[in-house]
Amino acid sequence: MSNANILLGVNIDHAATVREARYRGLGQEFGPIVEPDLIEIALFSEKAGADGITVHPREDGRHVQRSDVLKIREVISTRLNMEMAATDEMMAFALEVRPDSICVVPESREEVTTEGGLDVAGNFERVKAIVSTAASAGIVTSLFIDPDSDQIAASADSGASHIELHTGAYANAYYLDNRADEFDRLLVGAKQGLDLKLTVNAGHGINYNNIKEVRTIPNLHELNIGHSIVSRALFCGISDAVREMKSLING
Ligand code: PXP
Repeated sequence: MSNANILLGVNIDHAATVREARYRGLGQEFGPIVEPDLIEIALFSEKAGADGITVHPREDGRHVQRSDVLKIREVISTRLNMEMAATDEMMAFALEVRPDSICVVPESREEVTTEGGLDVAGNFERVKAIVSTAASAGIVTSLFIDPDSDQIAASADSGASHIELHTGAYANAYYLDNRADEFDRLLVGAKQGLDLKLTVNAGHGINYNNIKEVRTIPNLHELNIGHSIVSRALFCGISDAVREMKSLING
């Protein structure tokens, strides 16, 4: 299988981070003063070529709010991917939202963004239960994991159909000596995932430079990219930022 068409999920969490920095706690009922408008960001991203919108409602509500997620679910015409912690509360919310997919991530209050992959092997029964509950509601489950052999094998055993390989360690090593090693881990992980019949996505720390290498990982299905797109949008607007990333992804 070649990477003829890798899909782009645009993660808009950090657009919400900007809004919350100024308007924390003020809802949509306050009207257009509450900016940037997340709904517009999602719709413009779609128009510019995003294949899906990704959001991560966190327990502490630091960026995307639950009301945002419900509204985005209503208005977008591509797919909604909801990142979530492996908690009963978040599963109940996912059942309310009915996203097309959930991506189960580890979550701790202190981290600014998701720091490490989910420990599927160490939380196997919980993860398996989430996969099964989501499947009965017609929701695809992806597991956000480090490119680690045990975690990939446990993901396949859990019944999940998708994994999202954590590209953060590779992205952080981009200008360091261990970049090749980290990239190799992704290559090996993607191959193992494919051998286990998993659909392989990737995400975290992907930007307009490293995408040229990331896109060469064989058999990638989808990339979830947030921070670099929202950052670039400060200079050129969200539409151009998404368009440029989309064209870099597919060469
Ligand atoms: N994928 C997952 C599972 C994530 O948690 C994040 C960060 O929210 C991303 C992708 C996007 O990472 P970034 O914002 O660095 O592009």
